[in-house]
Amino acid sequence: MTAVPVVPGCTWYPGHLSAADQAGLVATLRDLMRQAPLFQPLMPRTGTPFSVRMTNCGSLGWVSDRTGYRYQPHHPETGMPWPPIPATILAVWEAVSGYPHPPEACLVNWYGPGARMGLHQDRDEEDLAAPVVSLSLGETGLFRIGGTTRGGKTVPVKLASGDVLVFGGPARLAYHGVDRLLPGTSTLLKDGGRINLTLRRVTRPD
Ligand code: SIN
Ligand code: FE2
Repeated sequence: MTAVPVVPGCTWYPGHLSAADQAGLVATLRDLMRQAPLFQPLMPRTGTPFSVRMTNCGSLGWVSDRTGYRYQPHHPETGMPWPPIPATILAVWEAVSGYPHPPEACLVNWYGPGARMGLHQDRDEEDLAAPVVSLSLGETGLFRIGGTTRGGKTVPVKLASGDVLVFGGPARLAYHGVDRLLPGTSTLLKDGGRINLTLRRVTRPD
């Protein structure tokens, strides 16, 4: 497993998932999206829609609407509990997190053409001892990660299909985002686009 240091606390594992595992995971995710359909998150207060659509799996899912950001155990539209995190995804956490407890939330971000994600911190979790583990599928995303203050220097990473990125320790609250996709860089998703999965521990273990 090739491990590329990005910034202190952040490591990139290019091509962590094989092509066969990626294809299997896409089939699993299509199934999951039938049980827990993609929804359109809105920015708190302004109600501006995100350019990505989202869903979750795990005991908790991250949602955003006019009232704010939060974790909740059910889908905002269907009211159903989120489906469990598939085994292939849990195996990624076990391989790279270095954390002795399972993740509780797996956020599924679906990027269509033109979608992006502004620089932000992942800071809605109580347990900041666990890293964030991200897995990318489909078209390459031009990702950036910097320090823990807004406006600092950032390091670019081209996250290709099958790549895993871990940020924890001194990078756990690092600002990060996705500027844009590189269209045509993958044939994994039949209509193009990109799926990013972020795994997080939310509550502190007993
Ligand atoms: C996120 O920060 O939620 C997504 C990052 C990515 O899409 O690579
Ligand atoms: Fe994030």
